[in-house]
Formats: sequence, structure tokens, C-alpha cells
Amino acid sequence: MEQLLIMEKVTYQGLNFVPFIKNDAIQAEVKRVAAEITRDFSEEPPLFLCVLTGAFVFAADLFRNIPFNSEITFIRFKSYEGMKSTGQVKEVIGLHEDISGRSIVIIEDIVDTGTTAAQLIDTLKAKGAKDVRLATLLYKPDSMKTNATPDYVCFNIPSKFILGYGLDIDGLARNLPDIYILEEDAK
Ligand code: IMP
Ligand code: MG
Repeated sequence: MEQLLIMEKVTYQGLNFVPFIKNDAIQAEVKRVAAEITRDFSEEPPLFLCVLTGAFVFAADLFRNIPFNSEITFIRFKSYEGMKSTGQVKEVIGLHEDISGRSIVIIEDIVDTGTTAAQLIDTLKAKGAKDVRLATLLYKPDSMKTNATPDYVCFNIPSKFILGYGLDIDGLARNLPDIYILEEDAK
């Protein structure tokens, strides 16, 4: 079987991807963001809300750097097909917790157009959340089309397609420990 985890180049759908952000750099930024959240929520722990599927890797690392007792739950949307956003966001797994009066920290893998995040923030506020903040591993500021500006960002990146560390191409590449970018976009 092909050994993927330490590759300098990976190929999906006939496209070559090269390392973009290494796992040690990711871990350093995850720790920085966890410290910011810890400082901001010293009074009352928030409910963490991981947006599946892409954010599960980041959420696992982030949550293990949170030093106080708190809960984490999960929600699932689908808006991407292959390398393009369909522009429509579908809720696949819903939220069952009572969130009225609670502070929520959304954990996203990437904020691209911001469509998913904006819709989720509206939904959470409509369900009575007291305060909703957005933590994202990656932010593409040049693609942003909504006002769902993230509160906590590990990395600002250009509007290029990337994968690995939870991010997929048609369901694959999530298990790569590092983040990869299309070879031609890396030049
Ligand atoms: P948005 O709603 O346009 O902000 O897109 C959010 C979702 O699109 C993310 O949670 C990802 O699942 C997906 N996405 C956006 N950019 C990329 C990328 O470069 N690689 C993989 N998935 C992406
Ligand atoms: Mg996602």
C-alpha cells in the first residue's frame, strides 16, 4: 500500500500537491489560539462546536490544549464538491443541545466564502446563544463574501485549494499530518 504520511508530493485526481504548512507549525499556532480562547473565557467555559467533517483534526488538537472543563459537540454541513464550493450549504447532522444563554466557540477547518460560518452563526443566535465566536484553522480573507469574520485564526492563506490535516478532496487526504497545496500554486 502507498505510504502517504511522510510524502514530499501527493497526487489526487491526477493533480500534484506539495507541502505548504508542516504539522509542527500547525501545532504552534493551535497552542497560540488555544491560549487566546483560554484567556477570553476565563469566567465561564464556552460550548465548543466542531463543524464536521474537515475540522475534526483541528478540533481534537485545539480541544486538548484547553485547560478548563468544557464540552464539545458536532454539527455537519456539506457545501463542497471536488474543488469548488456549490454555494449551497446543507445541514446533514443537526445540533441537539440546548444552547440558549450559552457562549459558543465554533471550530472550523477553513473559512473560505464564509457562507457556512455565517449561516451557522445566524442559526445559533436564533436558538438563543448568548455569544458566538468563530475559531478557524485557516482563513482565506480574499474569498470572504459575508461578515462572518473569524475571531481566532491560526493561518491566513491565499485563495488557493489546499488539503490535508482534516481538509479533503472528495473525501480523501484528511489523514495527511501536514497541509498541502497544488504544486503550481506553490510557485
Ligand atoms: P465556505 O462556506 O465557502 O466558507 O467554505 C467552507 C467549507 O468549504 C470548509 O469548511 C471546507 O470544508 C471547504 N473548503 C474551502 N476551501 C477549501 C480548500 O482549500 N480545501 C478543502 N476544502 C475547502
Ligand atoms: Mg468543512
